[in-house]
Amino acid sequence: MNLASSRLLQRLTAPVSAITAYDYPGARIADESGIQLILVGDSLGMVVAGNPDTTSVTLEQMAYHTEMVVRGAPNAVVVSDLPIQTYRSPGETLESARVLMDAGAEAVKLEGGFGQLEKVAILSANDIPLMGHLGMLPQRVQQEGGYRKKGKTDEEADQLVKAAVALESAGAFSVVLESVVPEVAGRITDAIGIPTIGIGSGQDCSGQIRVLHDVIGSFPWFVPPFAKVYGNVAGEMQRALEAYAEELE
Ligand code: KIV
Repeated sequence: MNLASSRLLQRLTAPVSAITAYDYPGARIADESGIQLILVGDSLGMVVAGNPDTTSVTLEQMAYHTEMVVRGAPNAVVVSDLPIQTYRSPGETLESARVLMDAGAEAVKLEGGFGQLEKVAILSANDIPLMGHLGMLPQRVQQEGGYRKKGKTDEEADQLVKAAVALESAGAFSVVLESVVPEVAGRITDAIGIPTIGIGSGQDCSGQIRVLHDVIGSFPWFVPPFAKVYGNVAGEMQRALEAYAEELE
């Protein structure tokens, strides 16, 4: 693992609290709430831009949102997602990662396992911390024909464990486990020395990550089945706007 990754890990303590954020207010409130890690997720393509999935997000958009988040988050570790089509080769991965690091990210995330090891290694060699992402891969939702739980068969479970071990060996400093069968997520957590950050993968991970809009209730039109909603920001926003409109009338 490179020096920059070791330094980031020193700022994370289990259980790691992680959340997505996409702009200054979201990042600032998350940071001031003591969240340890903020992901500028390409889920912004859905919950900010209103697209059906993450696949149309561009590197320029990620850099723009990363700048906003970094401005609001002086304490949390800020990780930025590499959009699909920006890490097709090791060289392209390094170039794209540098754009996000120049925007202020402290690490980047990419999706996938065995096919990505050379890309992880080139980032590691260039002192760029990398977060892996295994299980359900939102950038591949079109090829997979929807969202489904991963690790249900013995073969799939074994592959996930091996992929996590390989990502760690290639230099990843942590790995997101999305929609992985909880028992398999626990096996992965036991098998590797870097933190596993779960979403829809049970409690046996080193930390948890959620999409900000799910937690605060600001995107009521779609809430994933595993999401626990702690607030009603959309409802409060509507109430305030209706009160404003009514007062004008
Ligand atoms: O883009 C995103 O929000 C993510 C999280 C679901 C981990 O990748």
